[in-house]
Amino acid sequence: MLSEAKNRILTQVGPGTPMGEYLRRFWHPIAGAGEFDETSVKAVRLMGEDLTLYKDLSGTFGLVDRHCAHRRADLSYGYVEETGIRCNYHGWLMNEKGACLEQPFDDVANPGHKGKERCAIKAYPVREVAGLLFAYMGPQPAPELPIWEPFTWDKGFVEVVTADIPCNWFQCQENSCDPVHFEWMHDNWSLRQKGQLGPYSPKHFQVAFDEFEYGFTYRRRREGQGEDDPMWMTGRVALWPNGFYLGGHFEWRVPVDDENTRSVTWFFTRLPIESEHLAPKKAYWWHAPITDENGRWITSHVINQDIVAWVGQGRISDRTKENLGASDRGIAMIRNRFFDEIEAVAQGRDPKGTLRDPQAAACVRLPIATPKLFRDGMSRKDYLSNWWFAPRLKDFRWHAGQPAHVRDAFRRATLGEDYDALIGDVTR
Ligand code: FES
Ligand SMILES: [Fe+2]
Repeated sequence: MLSEAKNRILTQVGPGTPMGEYLRRFWHPIAGAGEFDETSVKAVRLMGEDLTLYKDLSGTFGLVDRHCAHRRADLSYGYVEETGIRCNYHGWLMNEKGACLEQPFDDVANPGHKGKERCAIKAYPVREVAGLLFAYMGPQPAPELPIWEPFTWDKGFVEVVTADIPCNWFQCQENSCDPVHFEWMHDNWSLRQKGQLGPYSPKHFQVAFDEFEYGFTYRRRREGQGEDDPMWMTGRVALWPNGFYLGGHFEWRVPVDDENTRSVTWFFTRLPIESEHLAPKKAYWWHAPITDENGRWITSHVINQDIVAWVGQGRISDRTKENLGASDRGIAMIRNRFFDEIEAVAQGRDPKGTLRDPQAAACVRLPIATPKLFRDGMSRKDYLSNWWFAPRLKDFRWHAGQPAHVRDAFRRATLGEDYDALIGDVTR
């Protein structure tokens, strides 16, 4: 249980709030690069700020104020040029640094005027890595953008999936350090949704939480699992400050404002050795629905189930009314770390996990429970009989709504052109 004041600290993300200022010290994935295959300009809202995200005709991404410096027209209806975005009202041109490059009528009426220098707009740096667009909204100098090791892997099929979640970011992130929910929310609830009464999945009997440089790990043992089980030896990573890392995929909970979150996820599937040459050159992006045709939450897929928990806690979870138990130790650790870190930043120190050394940031390794699968690959035959990968040929298990063209591309890359025939061999 937390006081109302402490709950506010954890959940308010706007400019000038303690958590808002803290989170602005990190690069955040805000979109898939693939979102700009069919459009050049998007309205986005991040940490309570209304912004415009665009890709200009030279391929440069910009994240600038939603409103034009002239008379405040909406730049998300602007159009891009070689060097920036042009307002659709009177044609002022702004670049990715927020500089005003052209004021067409003033440039004719008063040649050589200095008006442009006074008309810069807010702008934040954007970088594209592994099919994701990262933005930094904090004070300069910006820290290095960590290139997590999976972003350096090749020979894989990469998907970026986004979703809009109507609740505060922090309740989503608490889920990243919550091992026991897996048993009830994913295993047993899925079973019951299929109409089966049991048997329920193996019970958790031991959990452990440890802090490390880039976050926290949680480890678990369930009935039948020994001390050498990868989930006990290595476990999963609650990635600091708002991510979750499971080996083959990342999930980030990016605050839109106090009551909304953008879920940005990145999935890597190592292709069978025979198919390595079929690895797509770029990531596939798609936006996932979270409600069904009746307006109810979708409950069939893993992250959809998590979303049901997050939104069910309310737009902003009221932590004055909760009762933490033995499984919540990791959540208490994360909250306490945030309170300490917010204080440290207020005193002018770099927050936990900040990277200032470009060499160290170029490939950052994280704990990974099953590294061999991702780093070494396996044969197609092994793939088809692997308990983890084989079922994923039939359905993308994490999010509902994978478009058919992405599923087909995935199967083609995984199994080759004759994937239709081979898919029949998947028995699970
Ligand atoms: S309002 Fe944008 S150019 Fe006038
Ligand atoms: Fe979950």
